[in-house]
Amino acid sequence: MTQAIDFDRYDRIRPIRWTGDTLELLDQRKLPFEVEYVRCADSDAVAEAIRLLIVRGAPAIGISAAWGVVLAARDIDAADGAQTLQRLEPAMQRLNAARPTAVNLAWALARMRRVLAAAGADWREVIAREAQAIADEDLAANRRMGALGAALIAEGSGVMTHCNTGSLATAGFGTALGVIRAGVAQGRIARVFAGETRPWLQGARLTSWELQQDGIAPTLVADAAAAHLMKGGAVQWVIVGADRICANGDTANKIGTYQLAIAARHHGAKFMVVAPSSTVDMDTASGDAIEIEERDPGEMFAIGGVRTAAPDIAAWNPVFDVTPHELIDAIVTEKGVIERPDAAAMRAAFGG
Ligand code: MRU
Repeated sequence: MTQAIDFDRYDRIRPIRWTGDTLELLDQRKLPFEVEYVRCADSDAVAEAIRLLIVRGAPAIGISAAWGVVLAARDIDAADGAQTLQRLEPAMQRLNAARPTAVNLAWALARMRRVLAAAGADWREVIAREAQAIADEDLAANRRMGALGAALIAEGSGVMTHCNTGSLATAGFGTALGVIRAGVAQGRIARVFAGETRPWLQGARLTSWELQQDGIAPTLVADAAAAHLMKGGAVQWVIVGADRICANGDTANKIGTYQLAIAARHHGAKFMVVAPSSTVDMDTASGDAIEIEERDPGEMFAIGGVRTAAPDIAAWNPVFDVTPHELIDAIVTEKGVIERPDAAAMRAAFGG
């Protein structure tokens, strides 16, 4: 049951490709029907791609922003990193403003700032190396979390996930989807339910597509079917990713996650959050302080360009919500598992 996981089997999709002078991003608006990469030649194109969800998922937008900094620096002629940093600041701020909720974006930019501030004449190589390191470390973290999270799951379990947390949302393998991949590979997970994830349909379009390519057949459910599904006993674990985990364990993730946690607790299913430590924000005390992105209500009026809402209707489109730590049974990062997270457990794991 604890056999090694064949990671390479899952490493087929790469949403972010650095060619040496441009960034190619898999256009996730078009999946699964068209597999098409968008070329970004400058940092503003990267910021726009993040804003438009061409690239999405907390770790993936952090990695993209790091490459965005490399692009922004391309035409700068400066003697050292500190001088470069001054000139790059406006472009970095535009990258940072592309989406507000996932802390990985600010985290990656802070890392790029740190190495630039300390770099000498070789600053160009230093930032390219750092962007690559951010991507490589993310992939390694996902593989580690896959093993740690899967170990919590009993043989023959049913699991439910939300949004997309796979290779498409990361440098590869995925966070929550990585745990699911590892759990299936080890025979622990017998059945996977994927929530549709309205309005952008990350579950229906992206997670289902990724799992199909692994030979894992997920069962798609409407978001509104989750509590009914859990009532029937089909789900032992709800496994989700995160966009920001606060100092007390409160977790922001795709809208709909909070109601899954409530339903899970009510029906005796366990709730697992899987995210690299780059998603942990020890400077934010609790979920109340997280800025929740609200997107254009127009995203709710149509599916695939076909209008589904009545004309002239108002809509509210928050795209994340916060699950209070009391509803979370385990937070899995590459540093280990935190069971029943709270401020003390988070401090013990992450300091601060
Ligand atoms: O709006 P999205 O698609 O970027 O939202 C993504 C999520 O909420 C994911 O669950 C989260 O970023 C973790 S991805 C590993």
